Amino acid sequence: MPEKTKSIWMDGKLVEWGKATTHVLVQGLHYGSAVFEGVRCYDTPNGSAVFRLEDHMQRFDQSIRIFGMNMPYSVKQMCGAVLETVKDNELKECYVRPLIFGGEGGFNLTHRKTPVHVIVAVWAWKDYLGQESVKKGVKAKVSSFIRPHQNSVMTKAKIAGNYVNSILAKQEAEDAGCEEAIMLDALGRVSEGSGENIFLVQNQIVYTPPKETILEGITRESVITVARDLGFEVREEHVTRDQLYGAEEVFFTGTAAEVVGVREIDGRNIGSGKRGPVTGKIQSAYADAVRGKTKKYESWLTWVK
Ligand SMILES: Cc1ncc(COP(=O)(O)O)c(C=O)c1O
Repeated sequence: MPEKTKSIWMDGKLVEWGKATTHVLVQGLHYGSAVFEGVRCYDTPNGSAVFRLEDHMQRFDQSIRIFGMNMPYSVKQMCGAVLETVKDNELKECYVRPLIFGGEGGFNLTHRKTPVHVIVAVWAWKDYLGQESVKKGVKAKVSSFIRPHQNSVMTKAKIAGNYVNSILAKQEAEDAGCEEAIMLDALGRVSEGSGENIFLVQNQIVYTPPKETILEGITRESVITVARDLGFEVREEHVTRDQLYGAEEVFFTGTAAEVVGVREIDGRNIGSGKRGPVTGKIQSAYADAVRGKTKKYESWLTWVK
């Protein structure tokens, strides 16, 4: 459970943290029929700012439409709800979790007529892959659990039930002494991490798998921009498992994990077995961008006033 904060936005208004509860017979709990987003708010020289707020709320809306749930709030209203929740909780930096879930009475495996509840919660959340991950990089395991085919569970949508696949993979990785899992797709190609996109570096060129079976990460897109602005060539093309093993550098990107190097995969050192230099450059340029230190990326920030 994240550390308790003051309030959670629930169905249109802020309620006390402890009062944001639900019944055990809601559909979302039984069948994973919920959709969520993950957003971060950063402390910048001009005060707290939410990173790519509208893009996240657009993706939230898109995920809900892909799943076919009835969304009672517009993208604009959800942007407002996020800002209201961050402000009320007075956290300079936080992780933001919007969620919609199927409510009471939806037990016939359809959801068009099921009532929904929508929440926005915030909490302080640093270093998703561990305190040392940012500087040292992490150990990863290629998972025995594969990403579902894109026509099976709609991999472009952040549907809660899809994350059972991620939990299986990440648990397997942790049980093997690693911090994160690398998922292959139904055709055996490298897809993404359990909750991150993946990149590799070879001969100063940055590669990342194309959009087909991955969640189209907002950090992925930001990192592609940042890397190109730093002068690196970035290619979106299929990546194989042996390419990862032989890469000079591998790194993950995601809202929760941010930019984290991968120092070892399946017991093999990646490059020198440390966070690589290209990863380091991209990581610090990204960290500057999200904290409002780079003028040209300021349009990615929405200040919490
Ligand atoms: C499966 C998966 N892939 C990739 C990502 C990275 O997406 P983003 O950078 O938008 O957080 C996430 C996190 O949301 C994820 O859950």
